[in-house]
Amino acid sequence: MIYIKSEQEIEKMRHANALVMEILTMLKDMVRPGLNIKRLERKADEVTKEKGGIPAFKGYNGYPSSLCVSVNETIIHGIPHNRILKEGDIVGIDYGILFEGFYGDAAITVPVGRISKEASRLITITREALFKGIKSAVVGKRVGDISHAIQSYVEGKGFSVIREFTGHGIGKELHENPSIPNYGSPCTGIVIEKGMTFALEPMVSSGSHEVEVLSDGWTAVTKDRSLSAHFEHTIAITDGEPEILSKH
Ligand code: MF3
Ligand code: CO
Repeated sequence: MIYIKSEQEIEKMRHANALVMEILTMLKDMVRPGLNIKRLERKADEVTKEKGGIPAFKGYNGYPSSLCVSVNETIIHGIPHNRILKEGDIVGIDYGILFEGFYGDAAITVPVGRISKEASRLITITREALFKGIKSAVVGKRVGDISHAIQSYVEGKGFSVIREFTGHGIGKELHENPSIPNYGSPCTGIVIEKGMTFALEPMVSSGSHEVEVLSDGWTAVTKDRSLSAHFEHTIAITDGEPEILSKH
């Protein structure tokens, strides 16, 4: 079942997602060499509480933190323990909240000080891949068209898409149907309709797409320890271009 949202529900999702993005922007501004990533979670918790939201990830399937902080070869679900960022790192920050009954979910990858050309290119291509996916999310196309747009763009640039984790429907639940892989064939999967709301989230590696999950059961890293980047937006399907809900 895919839950179609009314305009009133989408309005609530605008609020939840604007708050997610406002907080992500604050966290991005904190990133610099010497920062302990634990402070990012503290800040996210503090602002979320102040604004009346609830962090969405903490306790979700037993995830132990409010925030995912994924450094370098970590793809997603990095747990923000004590770790000091250093010049040249890249750091993925993924955040979700529940606000007035609806979820918001978004992610960015940011450079720490000066980074290598390769790392910088990986970030740019991953962000661009997200926008290729968003552009394909229009009425009458299918979910496979989104997947294919992302995969073909990324692979055309010589990078790999991660296959173990996917984008997803979102709204009254953090994860709703459908799941939206970042690889696939055009003209396959469910037909996209107005009022659907999706979290698209390409994860891209500069090496192979193989994944290893560390012994904490969460931290997903590239098997070959190559760098990985991740961007995510929550969007709503409209009559025209999709609306990006996670902006502020
Ligand atoms: N954006 C990720 C997702 O949609 C983050 C989830 S973290 C988890 O899967 F802990 F909630 F799983
Ligand atoms: Co998500």
